[in-house]
Amino acid sequence: MEIEKIVQIAKRRGFVWPSSEIYGGLSGFFDFGPLGVLLKRKIENFWREFFVKSEENIFEVETATIMPEKVWRASGHLESFVDPITQCKKCNSFYRADNLIQEKTKMSVEGLKPEELSAIIKEKEIKCPKCKGELSEVRVFNLMLSTQVGPAVGSISYLRPETAQGIFVNFKNIASFIRKGLPFGIAQVGRSYRNEISPRQWLIRLREFNQMEIEYFFNPEKPNPNFEKVAKEKVPILTREEQKKGEENVVEMKLEDAVKEKILPNDYIAYFIAKEFLWYQQLGIPKEAIRFRHMLPEETPHYSAGNFDMEIKFDFGWKEVVGNAYRTDHDLKSHMKHSGESFFVVESGKKIIPHVVEPSFGVDRTIYAVLLYSFREDKKRGWDWFEFQPKIAPYVAAVFPLVSKDDLPEKAREVYNMIKPCFDAYYDEAGSIGKRYARADEAGTFLGITIDYDTLKDNTVTIRSRDTTEQVRVEIKKLLEIVWKLVNKEIGLRDAGKLVTSP
Ligand code: GAP
Repeated sequence: MEIEKIVQIAKRRGFVWPSSEIYGGLSGFFDFGPLGVLLKRKIENFWREFFVKSEENIFEVETATIMPEKVWRASGHLESFVDPITQCKKCNSFYRADNLIQEKTKMSVEGLKPEELSAIIKEKEIKCPKCKGELSEVRVFNLMLSTQVGPAVGSISYLRPETAQGIFVNFKNIASFIRKGLPFGIAQVGRSYRNEISPRQWLIRLREFNQMEIEYFFNPEKPNPNFEKVAKEKVPILTREEQKKGEENVVEMKLEDAVKEKILPNDYIAYFIAKEFLWYQQLGIPKEAIRFRHMLPEETPHYSAGNFDMEIKFDFGWKEVVGNAYRTDHDLKSHMKHSGESFFVVESGKKIIPHVVEPSFGVDRTIYAVLLYSFREDKKRGWDWFEFQPKIAPYVAAVFPLVSKDDLPEKAREVYNMIKPCFDAYYDEAGSIGKRYARADEAGTFLGITIDYDTLKDNTVTIRSRDTTEQVRVEIKKLLEIVWKLVNKEIGLRDAGKLVTSP
């Protein structure tokens, strides 16, 4: 199966592998290797470019990953961030009760109480999938990971299950720095932790993962001044009505209509949905594999007055990659009440607590989708490879001397030293040139730059396209500019120089 192949290549080529593997691993934790770090960082930086830097009023912060119990009491996570759990009485395995029932019976049981889930397990005679043992009564399990901070026993703090709370508790500090009226947004990229009952599906359900979130604060009585830019765009929406009928047909809907018909809760969330649709396509995810699903009331998180999940079609089915929530003034209000701080802002002479919409992106799920949709099985070429979009390819270029003799390595190192400060690049002289192309393709390296005997005569090199395997000849003095233009898709390979080989 394709995904297993990808998981193997990802491990072998240094993208991602199970954490603490030499000790048997720890379920739900993965480590990124050199190529994985480059890919992850580039995805995060492209996100910053697209969602933060391109906006006048969105700013990035970085807050602590461990926060005291009081924060989580105020946010509601202590009470409501729970999943239903059941345990096998024979082999002691744990299961998320709702998922297990859904898998075994295809019933939709989201939002049911523990006693209702226990009754279904009994009625349908659901047993432990591993040993067929009897399952326990269902109870709720809090997903936050706790830790003791400092030597005093009892001083419990929690690893954050979302980056968002670091933004809410800092609202006053941030608002006074920004000195702008509403609306404004605060972004954060970083690690989050959830003690998932059953981590699974590679990078999909982890216990330590990476999020990119924006809290966008606004006055609910005023329309979004940016909405006009995207109002006429169409996005694929899976409505609640379709889901209730058990259907999966999406409606291509203009955003202005979705807002007017109150399918989307407001034009602030609509703005981010438009941008998400565009961004994921720019990452190489086909538009047919993206949809926005209106979450059913029983699935909607405790803090939200309406959620739209951006889902991607994976090898195993559709899965949320971005959660879009209308958190209203829930968080600010609650932190005001618990901390005694004031988060009022003055809008047109009136004191208000801002409302917030939140697009929350999962980095790891995005990486899974990018690997899945960039992977090319290629019988003709003789090896499999990744067609990463040039902006996020871990390496932009690999520099090769045609052979390791006759001054070619020295000349190739000169070219490599010129490229490396500007683009992620590596130097490779080991093995035949064919093998080096194969290795570069497998890592998704966008361009191969080869130094040959002609280079010594006329200071030209060949550039090989990973995607077409075509090669053009260009002058070294123009190389940086050409690579820049190719990465940014300002030109195609054939515009870059004289075509020397085509497959
Ligand atoms: N602040 C809101 C929030 O955290 P969420 O829908 O629970 O909302 C947002 O999470 C995104 O974070 C998800 O769409 C998903 O991409 C990612 N995510 C959540 N839990 C995850 C997990 N256990 N493993 C990997 N990614 C996860």
